[in-house]
Amino acid sequence: MKLVHLITGASFLACAPAFASSTLATQKACLACHTVDKKLVGPSYQDVAKKYAGQKDALAYLTKAIKTGGSGKYGPVPMPPQPTLSEADAKTLAAWVLAGAR
Ligand code: HEC
Repeated sequence: MKLVHLITGASFLACAPAFASSTLATQKACLACHTVDKKLVGPSYQDVAKKYAGQKDALAYLTKAIKTGGSGKYGPVPMPPQPTLSEADAKTLAAWVLAGAR
């Protein structure tokens, strides 16, 4: 019985922040150029997650990459910098993307 409670509790905790992050991605207009699983203007978040899977500094790197934008890694279209995005929001979004954007 205890184990069941532990599992239910853990999946509840795992779901709550994921929901908050997709809302944040919508609010920050990230989803105008990205989708979770299909290439749009930018790469799908699952492609980004695959690219950095197993990379230790991926969270710090992507937090910065989201704020400063970039180009040439996935195609000819650059990602514009996001100067109004806070460090905390960038980190939340980076963690969400790395977890497969679910
Ligand atoms: C105007 C369209 C546009 C918007 C808005 C946009 N992106 Fe992007 N994004 C791109 C493109 C295009 C690329 C691919 C750039 C490249 O090829 O290097 C990209 C790349 C990325 C990457 C991978 C970076 C890397 O270095 O591997 C992440 C993560 C990302 N975007 C997250 C976000 C988040 C989070 C937001 C919202 C705050 C956002 N993007 C808003 C177009 C956009």
